[in-house]
Amino acid sequence: MPSQSVLVHAPHGRDGALAAQVLGRAGIETIVCRDTEEMLARLGGEAGALLLTEEALLAPQILARLGAALSAQPTWSSLPLIVLHSERNGSGRAPGRPAYLLQRLGAYQGAVFLQRPLPVATIVSVVQASLVGRRRQYQVRGLLEELASLNASLEEQVEERTALALRRAEQLRELSGELLLVEEREQRRFAEVLHDDLQQLLMAALLNVQVLLMAKDAAKKDEHARSISEILDRSGKVTRTLTVELSAPVLYERGLAGALEWLAVEMSKQHGVEMTVHANAADDPSVADLRVFFFRATRELLLNAVKYGGGSAVIVTMSRDGSNALRVVVADGGPGFDPATLATREFGRGGFGLANIRHRAALLGGELHIDSVLGKSTRMTLLVPSRL
Ligand SMILES: Nc1ncnc2c1ncn2[C@@H]1O[C@H](COP(=O)(O)OP(=O)(O)OP(=O)(O)O)[C@@H](O)[C@H]1O
Ligand SMILES: [Mg+2]
Repeated sequence: MPSQSVLVHAPHGRDGALAAQVLGRAGIETIVCRDTEEMLARLGGEAGALLLTEEALLAPQILARLGAALSAQPTWSSLPLIVLHSERNGSGRAPGRPAYLLQRLGAYQGAVFLQRPLPVATIVSVVQASLVGRRRQYQVRGLLEELASLNASLEEQVEERTALALRRAEQLRELSGELLLVEEREQRRFAEVLHDDLQQLLMAALLNVQVLLMAKDAAKKDEHARSISEILDRSGKVTRTLTVELSAPVLYERGLAGALEWLAVEMSKQHGVEMTVHANAADDPSVADLRVFFFRATRELLLNAVKYGGGSAVIVTMSRDGSNALRVVVADGGPGFDPATLATREFGRGGFGLANIRHRAALLGGELHIDSVLGKSTRMTLLVPSRL
């Protein structure tokens, strides 16, 4: 139903048809209702106004049902109700009297009572004015709907942001838990190196010095001096290993590209495995946490290549991809492995290194790709989007 149609209900004679004719001539669309039921049913649709004769309001229960329908309108709506009534004798409370009707309709504010007979022009102008008011109401409805959808999308956004914030908080909690684990593990390892290696070596050197001091024979003295020299050489290697592990200074002094070159030289000396680095300082990440992440992750990947690469040469390549993400590839020509076996391991159980890199890369919005061909090679690719 067009929203500006006027519902007409005039049960007696030709009143309804006449009203439709008069309004039609003024360009106003009408819908003439056959009976009370049709009129009430159509009220639920989008009417522009309701034009009734008082006879229509004499039907049983009509006032109560119409009053209920009018008061059930949404807040933006106040359907214009135009009642044509005749002058009557009798009290103001008599059925058909405006005051009585108005009271029965719950003092409905959208009602206008026009006394018949009246000029055609009056009806037309009252209906036109009512339709103008009604159009405004529909505009208000449109605005309210827009507001509601805006509100809904705002709420959706708030929900999304809240969910995101909760996810981030959860990730942070996970990360700090992992960091504790990693720190604990590293400290234990340093303590082991200090206790099992360095302390034992120093103790051995001390014993050798004591024996050397007491030795009378030159050949014996020589033997102990050589032994002390060997022990000090091994101690030097152990402390170099620790420096590689702790390594932060070189990263700050030489940037990531320089630090990776340094790392390859040190690890290759330490483990006797050939390592080549292709890295350009221009590709260095500008943020420190990315530099630290890439450095530590590469160290772990190099250590894996040493442990599992069967002594094959290792190549490290640092570059930027098309979207300026930083990529570090560590490739060896060792026996390879099946990466599917990693999925069955729990975080922190057994192999810890790759799971840790994966987790950290994900937290930085990046990823670790593993390409391994059994019996041939392993290629680890770390990719993290750039940040300003
Ligand atoms: N370059 C490689 N070549 C062959 N196998 C590899 C290589 N890198 C990793 N792997 C396999 O993946 C497993 C998981 O590696 P990960 O670094 O997570 O653990 P790990 O080195 O065994 O122990 P952790 O790093 O905790 O000391 C290794 O145990 C090994 O089987
Ligand atoms: Mg490892």
